Amino acid sequence: MTTARIAPLQALPLDQLRRRSSTKWRAYPDDVLPLFVAETDFPLAAPITARLRDAVELGDTGYTPPDPGIRDAFVAYAQRRFGWTVQPSRVRWTCDVMMGVVEILRAVIAPGDRVVVTPPVYPPFFDCVEEAGGVNERVPLIDVDGAWSLDLEGIDAALAGGARAVLLCNPHNPTGSVHSRRALVRLAEIAAAHGAVVVSDEIHAPLVQPGIDYTPFLTASPLAAEVGYAVTSASKAYNLAGLKCAVMVTGSEKTAAVIRALPDEVEWRTGLFGAMAGVAAWDPASDEWLDALLVAIDENRHLLRRLLEEHLPQSRYRVPEAGFLAWVDLRDLGWGDDPAGRILREARVALNHGSTFGTEGRGHVRFNLGCSPEVLTEAVHRIASLVRR
Ligand SMILES: Cc1ncc(COP(=O)(O)O)c(C=O)c1O
Repeated sequence: MTTARIAPLQALPLDQLRRRSSTKWRAYPDDVLPLFVAETDFPLAAPITARLRDAVELGDTGYTPPDPGIRDAFVAYAQRRFGWTVQPSRVRWTCDVMMGVVEILRAVIAPGDRVVVTPPVYPPFFDCVEEAGGVNERVPLIDVDGAWSLDLEGIDAALAGGARAVLLCNPHNPTGSVHSRRALVRLAEIAAAHGAVVVSDEIHAPLVQPGIDYTPFLTASPLAAEVGYAVTSASKAYNLAGLKCAVMVTGSEKTAAVIRALPDEVEWRTGLFGAMAGVAAWDPASDEWLDALLVAIDENRHLLRRLLEEHLPQSRYRVPEAGFLAWVDLRDLGWGDDPAGRILREARVALNHGSTFGTEGRGHVRFNLGCSPEVLTEAVHRIASLVRR
């Protein structure tokens, strides 16, 4: 798609947002600007609102049916947005991405097995590995020519040393980086060579910016399709996290058999509203909304760069390639390991604390760009006022 003439999606005004009851708006008092948890401040895509409104009016709030349509919706979406051909028989669904990751890991590792995670990374990954009975083996991202990259040699060594799985974040949260096809091809080779699997969390994939080459892991190579499991959802891009629906996708009969063998309960936990909203999100009728959202995020990711350059020149920030999260290194400000703590207390801006993403995140913060340019500007001005004190 081209975003050249698409107007950015407009965020809702703050007084409306403060009437929301989700975590973003209820975790802190009203004098705090919340730019932390990954919820966005936009109106829902109209097809989603219409679908949910119909359901509410009908009192259609029971259990999710045996086939809620989410599989077919994802198959069509993957083809249309990513050029990824998915076999419908190789898809199952569950209540959220993290649950899908836990259940797949539980099925493919034995208790006590090590699972590679690549910090700084979405903090629940560490808990998920443990919930599945595994032990985290941290192989941090490395900087290659100014790009966040997988440490393929480190992963190879971890798998050679007995780790059984890699939990991949593709695109990566919090850096907003997109792994290259080349890296994913190599990752699949390494996993296959050691008889390990790759579980790829692809929740941020709909938000890869135009012009960035994104590779769904299972499409990287025939080997990736053999060793990989993908888990994704409409919940992040379309702001549906409270509704609970995700899909687990496989690319071979062997891996499909693993997800087919998961207990029925795993599928049964899918939220009916999540499935309805997911089907509406992945319908072509919501594409225009998504494209406008991408333009809004594109503007904010560059606005943040300009704001930081002007008001916090000591900060370091790489414009993300995907998603609406921004990873900012504030170590040169001298605010210690937890700048988000000081920023919350003294500037009344809630950001994510970098160290929760792994020790590599000390001195960093994560911003949420899924807001209006005015809110983002105000947040940086408030933070910059601490420097001037
Ligand atoms: C990489 C990643 N995976 C998973 C999730 C959460 O997804 P879910 O609520 O479907 O478990 C998030 C939320 O921000 C995320 O960033």
